[in-house]
Parts: sequence; C-alpha cells; structure tokens
Amino acid sequence: MTRGRTVGELAEATGLSVRVLRHWDQRGVVSPSRTPAGHRLYDADDVVRLHRAITLRALGLRLDQVAALLDGADPDPAATLRAHLAGVDADLRRRQVVRDRLAEVLDRPGDDVLSTVIREMTMVGSYVHGYHDTEAARLRDQAATLADLLHEGVAFADGAHVLEPGCGVGAQTVVLAARSPGARFTSIDLEPGQVAAARARVAAAGLADRVDVRAGDVHAPPVAAGSIDDVVVFFLLEHLPRPDEALRALRRVLRPGGTITVVEGDHGATAFHPDSADARAVIACQEVLQRHAGGDAGIGRRLHPLLTAAGFDDVDVVPRTAHAHAGRPDLADALVRRTFTAMVAGVREPALAAGLITPERFDAGVRDLLRTTEPGGTFSYTFFRATGTRAASTTSVTPTNPSRA
Ligand SMILES: C[S@@+](CC[C@H](N)C(=O)[O-])C[C@H]1O[C@@H](n2cnc3c(N)ncnc32)[C@H](O)[C@@H]1O
Repeated sequence: MTRGRTVGELAEATGLSVRVLRHWDQRGVVSPSRTPAGHRLYDADDVVRLHRAITLRALGLRLDQVAALLDGADPDPAATLRAHLAGVDADLRRRQVVRDRLAEVLDRPGDDVLSTVIREMTMVGSYVHGYHDTEAARLRDQAATLADLLHEGVAFADGAHVLEPGCGVGAQTVVLAARSPGARFTSIDLEPGQVAAARARVAAAGLADRVDVRAGDVHAPPVAAGSIDDVVVFFLLEHLPRPDEALRALRRVLRPGGTITVVEGDHGATAFHPDSADARAVIACQEVLQRHAGGDAGIGRRLHPLLTAAGFDDVDVVPRTAHAHAGRPDLADALVRRTFTAMVAGVREPALAAGLITPERFDAGVRDLLRTTEPGGTFSYTFFRATGTRAASTTSVTPTNPSRA
C-alpha cells in the first residue's frame, strides 16, 4: 500500500517548486489531503490530476481555468480552448511583428543603435490606446457623441445574426443592438478585460438575451463559416498589421448575400482653426506610434481598396464629417475635448520616450487643440463608412435575402 507523496517529493519529481504546489493547492488546482500533523499528502489521483494540471498550465491557461476544467466545472471546455488558441495566435502575430521590426531596424546602418531602436520601436506590438479607464470612458463618449453620424442607416433585419469583432468595452455594441431590436449579435474582442467590460455594459442595457459577448480574434472568429448575416466593425482595422487578412476571415464567416459595414477614422482628414504646428506635431506623434504598433491612423482612405481586395462586392465608402464650432458646444466638448484630444494626448509618455517631441511642444499642441473648442474655433474630423456584400453564388438556386433592413 502506498502512503502517498509529500509536497517535497512531488516538487522533486515534477520540477515545480514547493511554493508553486502550495499556491496551486490554495487556488484549488490540486488540493491533496493532509496528515494529522497538517502536511500535504498527494494520493495517486492527486498525482494524475497534477500532471494534467501541468499540461494545461503549459498551454498557458490561467490557474482558475485549469481548476474549472479539471473539476468539470467549465460548461464549454472546447470554447475555452478555442478562445485560448485565438489568444496564442494573436500573441504569435504580435511577436512576429516585433521580431521583424527589430530585425529591420538593426539592419539599418547607424551610430547610436540603442537610440534608433527606442525611437523606431516604441509601442511596436502593443495597443496604441491602451486598456485603462480613461480609454474606456473615451470609447463610451465617442459612441454616444457620434451615434447619429456613424449609425444613421445602419440597421439589421429581424432574425439576422450579426458579428461585431473588436467590440472593445461594448460602447458601439449597445447602440447597434438598440437600433436593430430584432437582430442578435455575437460581439468579440481579443482582450479578456474588454470582454468583461462589454458584457457588463450589455447586461446593464438589458440586451444580454440577444447579445453574446465572447473572447475572440477577428482573424479566426469563433463562428461557423457562412453562418453570419451581417458583419459590423468599428475602429478595429486601424489597429491591425494585416487588415486584409482580417477582412478575408470576415468574408468567410458571412453567408452568401451577407453584408459588411466598416467604420474607421482618418487623421489626415482633420482640419481645425486656429491652425497650429504644435497641434499637428502632437497628431503626428499618435500617427507614428500607431504605425509602430502595426496600425494605420489614416486607414479611412484605404477602405475601398481593402474591401475590394478581400473579395467583397458592391463596395461603397461614404465620408461622414463631424464639424464642431461655436454653435455646437456639445460637439466641441464631446468630439474635440473628450474624444480626439483625449486620444492623441494619451500617447504623451511613449511619444516622449521615443524622442518624437519635447514635453513643452507636446503640451502646447494639446493646448492648441483644446483652443479650437473656444469661441471662434472650429474642428472637423472625417470618418469613413464602408459597406460591401459577399455576393450570392451565381450557381446557387436559393434566392438571396439581404438582411440589411
Ligand atoms: C479602438 S477599440 C474599438 C472598440 C469598439 N469597436 C468601439 O468603437 O468602441 C479596438 C478594439 O479592438 C480590439 N482588438 C484588437 N485586435 C483585435 C483582434 N485581432 N481581434 C479582436 N479584437 C481586437 C482591442 O482589444 C480593442 O478593444
């Protein structure tokens, strides 16, 4: 008869430290019985469970996920593992971008390699806006301020299944769902924190019965090919190193006859009065850092060629301009102050770290942007809304029924 194994023996056998084994016990991953003296004693089942836990941990799953999977408490293990795979893929893509960019920068001749690397690589592979509370508030303000401008005419038919990739904190999700009361939505985001925030926002809006918020990558959406009636994308492609690949993946999940709607910005279409070289320098910092991060702050003008190259049909793009002036103090505050200026001001630290601008000039530029909200000032920004379809197959005998209401 075996007496069981002590924590020290298992530490030696598995290569995990005693500290880790104790921590896993506290977190319910592998919780052995105790001797009368209070020492942990692992029986044969505990050892089997421990080896399974090690395998799942090696995949990169969190301890709470490992415990739930081993307890049989995860309602959909396949979905958890698929979402994890999407995260691994996204991480690989990020690392590839970092690797290629570093190789490219190091290939260039120059004296001060360190300064060049810092200047050229600040924010490479990261998300330019970050995931803090101020950014979540900015996304909510943006959605509320621009709802009429950006959502006018965007409505989906009763019964349509709509996919919204890159849903962020759910700011656009609740507007979309409220405007299409008979449609159901699957809204996905790569970041678990965003998913949790979006889920809470959807629940608070009373929309949880027809809006399913999940972790997922736009490059491999967690829905079946050909199963989606409409795709709707807000401010996502501008952050992707390969928007063409994302669009092709989205076309694959659309049914024949299904539609896509994409809304993105374009910093090149910013005009303001009084003009200011410092303000333009601040905007340029954001453009450069977004490019480092793999995105394109001027993607609006590329939407038509991108959708066409991805195979969409009937592609059209309409510019939607917001113009703030003294007669629209609401827009001046919400668009200029809380949306646009908040966004570009958010890159102050990385812009200084990269040596793109001096602190004095950055702060003067932000002040000048805000000055456009004062009497006599004006500010314009143009968004681009693209639409397209996945053409119904010409050989199909089933009549198509586009779901756009
Ligand atoms: C600027 S936010 C826009 C959020 C929302 N659509 C809105 O307009 O309020 C971009 C979002 O895309 C998400 N994202 C970035 N890469 C992604 C990917 N590969 N798949 C899914 N979501 C992604 C980010 O985590 C972030 O929440």
